[in-house]
Amino acid sequence: MTVPELNVATLARAWDFWSLVPRSGERGYQMELLTRVIIMPRILVTGAAGFIGFHLAQRLLARGDDVVGIDNISPYYDPQLKRDRLAQLTSHPKFRFEQLDIADRERVSRLFANERPIRVAHLAAQDGVRYSLTNPHAYVDSNLIGFVNILEACRQQRIEHLVYASSSSVYGANTKMPFSVHHNVDHPLSLYAATKKANELMAHCYSHLYRLPTTGLRFFTVYGPWSRPDMALHLFTKAILDGRPIDVFNEGHMRRDFTYVDDIVEGVLRTLDRVPEPNPIWSGDAPDAATSLAPYRLYNIGNNQPVELLHLIATLEKCLGRKAEKNLLPMQPGDVPETYADVDDLSRDVGFRPATPIEDGVAKFVEWYRSYYGV
Ligand SMILES: NC(=O)c1ccc[n+]([C@@H]2O[C@H](COP(=O)([O-])OP(=O)(O)OC[C@H]3O[C@@H](n4cnc5c(N)ncnc54)[C@H](O)[C@@H]3O)[C@@H](O)[C@H]2O)c1
Repeated sequence: MTVPELNVATLARAWDFWSLVPRSGERGYQMELLTRVIIMPRILVTGAAGFIGFHLAQRLLARGDDVVGIDNISPYYDPQLKRDRLAQLTSHPKFRFEQLDIADRERVSRLFANERPIRVAHLAAQDGVRYSLTNPHAYVDSNLIGFVNILEACRQQRIEHLVYASSSSVYGANTKMPFSVHHNVDHPLSLYAATKKANELMAHCYSHLYRLPTTGLRFFTVYGPWSRPDMALHLFTKAILDGRPIDVFNEGHMRRDFTYVDDIVEGVLRTLDRVPEPNPIWSGDAPDAATSLAPYRLYNIGNNQPVELLHLIATLEKCLGRKAEKNLLPMQPGDVPETYADVDDLSRDVGFRPATPIEDGVAKFVEWYRSYYGV
């Protein structure tokens, strides 16, 4: 059982508890309420029906946390997959779910006031680099308006720690490898990337102005069971099993730091548990991009081992026992040729670096895919 630190949110919940408990009630009942309301940390997971949010919620529940999940079940990809993920969570007694759009300011504010989470893992977002070329407003609604609504609610409820998903795509036009959180990232190549960079900037304002501790996590191409159908591994698997050719951009010479979902979740959990402190040696004369005089941190979470797309395809072919017919195409607008995460800060601060080999991760993905889709 996790013992909470005393802070305003915990004290407010303690106050609620003592005013609710009937003074004549049985001691056992009081203790149960005490445990439920005060001791068990209540974590809000946004995007809980999504790929990473679902896995994170499962891990939080498994370690005994009380989890409130929200998601608007957006139709960006098959909502049935989101409902099937949710069905795995809703049977758990410590999980509650509310279908809610984070762009709805009133409802977000009400949810925070009613649920009083202690910490927040904010993963809800409009994803996808390619979709942002044709649907820019979806990114403004979920990733900018929605993000401000989350920040405001965190400020109002004096949340102990906000952890939010950023993305490797913020590295944009950078070519210096590996990508480091200490590099300048002012040259995004898609609106999706620009909204994720904007999130980091907005978070810094709230950390500075209101001392809201925030940690931004730049995830690198996440894959694994229950993954998103718009991502390359999922698309390739479906096409190969259907006997259709696969579209291979940049003729397969793209390199990605593919990161297994369990490693991402481990990184999120460890950073969620570590509330950032101001960096006392930070200086405005030579500003470090990843820290601040405010309680603000950025980390990469990536496998630290880029893999060429052609190697990913060969690994997938082996797991499926079928050859892919490759349709070799040029680079797509908005895409970057390589991603490669420097995870030294993550490893130094939380003692963890992702390490799942692509062969193991792809095998687990294929096993899930075959069983979920019955193919
Ligand atoms: N999967 C990756 O490779 C990857 C890489 C980098 C960053 N990220 C980021 O990690 C986070 C989680 O990604 P994922 O792969 O699980 O994506 P996902 O699309 O599976 O999950 C996001 C969830 O957020 C929900 N959502 C979207 N807009 C919402 C809104 N306005 N209100 C409420 N819910 C909303 C969606 O319905 C979805 O279930 C996202 O912020 C994403 O940008 C993911």
